[in-house]
This record gives sequence, structure tokens and C-alpha cells, in this order.
Amino acid sequence: VFLGDMNSLGISARARYFVPVTSVEALKQALAWAAEKSVEPLILGGGSNLVFAGDYRGLVVRMAITRRCWEHIEGDEATLILGAGENWHDVVMYAASVGYRGIENLALIPGTVGAAPVQNIGAYGSELRDTLLEVSALDRHTGREVTLTNSLCHFSYRDSLFKHEPGRYVITTVRLRLSRSRPFCLDYRDLAEYFDGRDARSLTPLDVANGVMAVRRRKLPDPARLPNAGSFFKNPVVPIETWHALQQAYPDIAGYPGDDSAKIAAAWLIDQCGWKGYRNGRVGVHNRQALVLVNHSHGSGEDVLELADRIRGEVKARFGIALEMEPGVVGSP
Ligand code: EPU
Repeated sequence: VFLGDMNSLGISARARYFVPVTSVEALKQALAWAAEKSVEPLILGGGSNLVFAGDYRGLVVRMAITRRCWEHIEGDEATLILGAGENWHDVVMYAASVGYRGIENLALIPGTVGAAPVQNIGAYGSELRDTLLEVSALDRHTGREVTLTNSLCHFSYRDSLFKHEPGRYVITTVRLRLSRSRPFCLDYRDLAEYFDGRDARSLTPLDVANGVMAVRRRKLPDPARLPNAGSFFKNPVVPIETWHALQQAYPDIAGYPGDDSAKIAAAWLIDQCGWKGYRNGRVGVHNRQALVLVNHSHGSGEDVLELADRIRGEVKARFGIALEMEPGVVGSP
């Protein structure tokens, strides 16, 4: 099966076996089939956070469990229950349009609900962990369905339990705790500038979601027009002393310093090395956000990974900082 339209980088990989699943029962059957055939299953959501290095020789399981319902509506708060196959952005717009707050800053993030907890999606000062109550998952070690509360998911910046135990859990349902009254988070510079002068009390969650969309569209390419996988590297976290030393050497360095550590804007490091807008035939670096690698025209996974390696090498040589890739690599050349 051709996977080119199932990964946001638009890489023309193929899967040896493929099955879409719309229920937990179907998921169990698909996994049992893979075990019987001795082929590795790959759980695919929106395909927006992975690079196909080549074809996938196992079974691609396309997560298509859809469900949206409300539970425990008490006062201003309510729990939104979501199937893993729901489109994340559609859910954000839906919750915002019915007046619930908590995920509006995460508008326009590509991908599915089930993939969102894996990397603890985050943008404009919000992260999924701020609203996630719990997830239901199939534990492939025991074959049983489990419920993992927020604290059991071990969320941190672009990280979770699901990255540390790859392949073990297949997320089937996500429960979010949303509110009609929680304050908006409008501190992130781009967003604060966008809403400059507006009284936050006059804004609806839909206004905020629309603002986030406008801000994102100014910098980030739409994967439907220019295939990409969002930020290709994580913002590196360094000890605060390293941050101060770098600041001495490069007074305009961009980052987010905390008490003991600082997150450096990887985009700034890459930009300083002159990569922004670089194009090598088929693949390149976005011209408005240096952290995003783009597939201009029929680039392969190898093209993308080779470019990523060159960027990492230069950033390491110039700043002594090792960039860590954000998307996962699957398939073999
Ligand atoms: N900058 C540059 N050159 C560039 C782009 C940015 O020097 O080409 C500098 C600027 O100084 C800018 C700073 O880097 O102020 C930060 O840039 P930006 O606000 O675009 O945020 P980011 O740290 O590069 C992170 C997330 C994005 C998220 C934005 C907004 C990561 C890896 N990326 O990017 O997430 O949308 O913040 O919250 O944490 C994603 O994960 O796919 C993603 C797009």
C-alpha cells in the first residue's frame, strides 16, 4: 500500500501490509494477525511526526477509532472523551466552538488525538499535559487495556512514557479535562503581540484558536501545500551555566531560560548557520522557520535525513550543542 498521502512529509514509502482499525476489537485482531505472521506492526496516526527512511516491511495499522463525547459535566468543567483516530485540530475547533477552554493554543497542530500524548504536543505556552486527564491504551505486553492517569504518563517537554517504552502501548482513547472559565494563556510573545491591547475577558476560546492559527500560518508551512513534519528538532535543554556562557558569546541568542536550565531555540542555532531557506533540489529548510525541514518535490526519507545530519553536524561544530530529532524514523531504505 502506498503511504505517500499518509505521512505529512509526503515521502513515497510503501507498506507490505496495511489495515485501518476503527475499534479496539479490530486493533486486537490486527495485532494478533501480525504476531501470527511474525511481522512488526506500526501504529500510524496522522503520520505527521515520522520519517519513512524507506518502505515498511511489516503491518501498518492505521488508527481510525473515532469518538467524541462528554462526561462529568460539573459546573464549569467537563471531560471530553476522544477516540485516538480523531483529528487533533478538528477537536480543538470543536471544543473551542462550544465554549470550552484548555486546548485552544494547540490549534492547527497536525496529527491525531492518539499521537498527541506521545510527544506531549505543545505550542504557545500550552502543552497537552495541562488538560490531559488520562489515556486508555492497549498494553501489548499483557494484551490488556489499561488506563494511565496524567502522572503515570510521565510527561515532560516533547516527551512521555510512550517514547520511553516504544511499541508497548497503543493509545485508544484520550480524556481531556476542559473548562468554560479557566484563564487563557496569552503570554507567548507572538500571541501577546497578536492580541495586543485586547482585553482577555472579551475573548472566546474560538477567538484565541483563530489567533493561534493566524500566528502559526505566518511562520509554519501548511503540510498540505509544502510537506513537512513540524519542528524537526527539539529545542535543546542545557544547564543554566551553559546558557549564560552562550549568551556572553552571542548576546542575541534566543531561548527560554528557567532556574537551573534553559531551553535554547534550535531555530536560532540553525538560522545562525545560514540554513534558513536552503534548498537542495528536492528537500530544504523552510524560509520562515529554520526548525522545519520541507519536502519540495519528491524528496525521499534518505534525502531528509541526510539534510538533518548536515544541519546537526554544523550546529554541533559551531555551538557544541547536539540537536535531537523530534520525529521518529521508520522503515528501511
Ligand atoms: N528563530 C530564529 N530563526 C527562525 C525561527 C525562529 O532565530 O527561523 C528564533 C526567534 O528568536 C524566535 C525563537 O527562535 O523568537 C523561537 O521561535 P518560535 O517562536 O517559532 O518557536 P520555536 O521554539 O522555534 C516551538 C515549538 C513549535 C511551536 C512554537 C510555538 C519545539 C521543537 N517547537 O518552536 O512546535 O509551534 O514553539 O510555541 O518546541 C512542532 O513541534 O512541530 C512545533 C511547530
